[in-house]
Amino acid sequence: MRIAQVEPFQAIAISRIAHDLAEAGRSVIHMEFGQPSTSAPAAAIAEAHRVLDREAMGYWESNALKERIARHYADRHGVAVDREQVILTCGASPAFVLALSCLFVPGARVALARPGYVAYRNTLKALYLEPVELACGEAERFQVTAAALAAMTPAPEGLIVASPANPTGTIIPPDELAAIAQVCRERGIRVISDEIYHGLGFGRPPGSMLEHLPDAFVVNSFSKYYSMPGWRLGWLVVPPEAIDAARARMGNLFLTPPVIAQRAGLAAFDCGDELEGHRETYARNRALMLAALPALGLRRVAPPDGAFYLYADVGHLTDDSLAFCTQLLRDTGVCTAPGIDFDPIDGHRFVRFSFAVSTEEVREAIARMVPWFAARREQGGGPAGNAGD
Ligand SMILES: Cc1ncc(COP(=O)(O)O)c(C=O)c1O
Repeated sequence: MRIAQVEPFQAIAISRIAHDLAEAGRSVIHMEFGQPSTSAPAAAIAEAHRVLDREAMGYWESNALKERIARHYADRHGVAVDREQVILTCGASPAFVLALSCLFVPGARVALARPGYVAYRNTLKALYLEPVELACGEAERFQVTAAALAAMTPAPEGLIVASPANPTGTIIPPDELAAIAQVCRERGIRVISDEIYHGLGFGRPPGSMLEHLPDAFVVNSFSKYYSMPGWRLGWLVVPPEAIDAARARMGNLFLTPPVIAQRAGLAAFDCGDELEGHRETYARNRALMLAALPALGLRRVAPPDGAFYLYADVGHLTDDSLAFCTQLLRDTGVCTAPGIDFDPIDGHRFVRFSFAVSTEEVREAIARMVPWFAARREQGGGPAGNAGD
């Protein structure tokens, strides 16, 4: 029997070194993980306290939360979503499992951008689906294009898109999103749209795939904009004909999300001011990082339209992003994610900086990195130092 090969996250290995260094007394700045460093909104925490004291917390689904999420699509995107189309999940990660297993049989080919979020590839493989990675570079803003999809022979059965994307933060413009939807409609390609970074845009807000393709499966979560990654709450919007299949899978595989998270999540929907404050912090941090690029000697970066990432080409300094990030961490205490996590082919020359930390930490990280990058340039780049030293 052949067991699916699922690779580990290299950023976790680097983060472990960072924690060891911190335990040994070193000052470490965590820019490796894609998670807010802020806690859940104050009203969500207050609601959680109330629930802890008063509720038994059994298996339960909040209709009020489903309704609130459905209303969000009407308010933000002008799209009608029925409450029953919203499946509450334990974050975006299980939402993918539900969507993929509702849509595809083993062996189905699912297209996705490379670079992309590592779990797409690995979840596909774990479900015995075939990831078909489309190389997406600067010219495509690191995103799948309608033209690339139209050119695929044979057409894939599925497509995963993410806008804003991880690791790049790039957004698919509305006309391109519409064109992708059109190709998928014409070629019978089923779409899973990861909209987890919605709310975290630095210009025009991204559109939802539901505006163009009512039968798209849309994944979202409280982990990013709502600053609640550890609460494990997210959702999947499915078309009406897939409600029963998706509900059956959720019930069998995961039961329900935690009651406390559902109650707190509903409260978080009314915390716009606090959450907007986080977005403003990210906008400041992004501006600082962009302003520091010349001093860092980094010229080629993905346009960070949204999310909280900067994906930079460090190919003039290394051909081994894992060793490079490890050395940067050991020398400066700044922890980053190697591109190989997101792109097994070209990621050896990229680094992802997550700026979802405080503005002071971003300033400090830049101050530490500028002389380090200058020294690397003087050494003439090349392979990074021994990751083990
Ligand atoms: C693009 C993307 N999708 C999904 C996830 C998983 O999110 P969740 O915590 O909701 O499972 C992440 C987490 O980093 C992500 O970056």
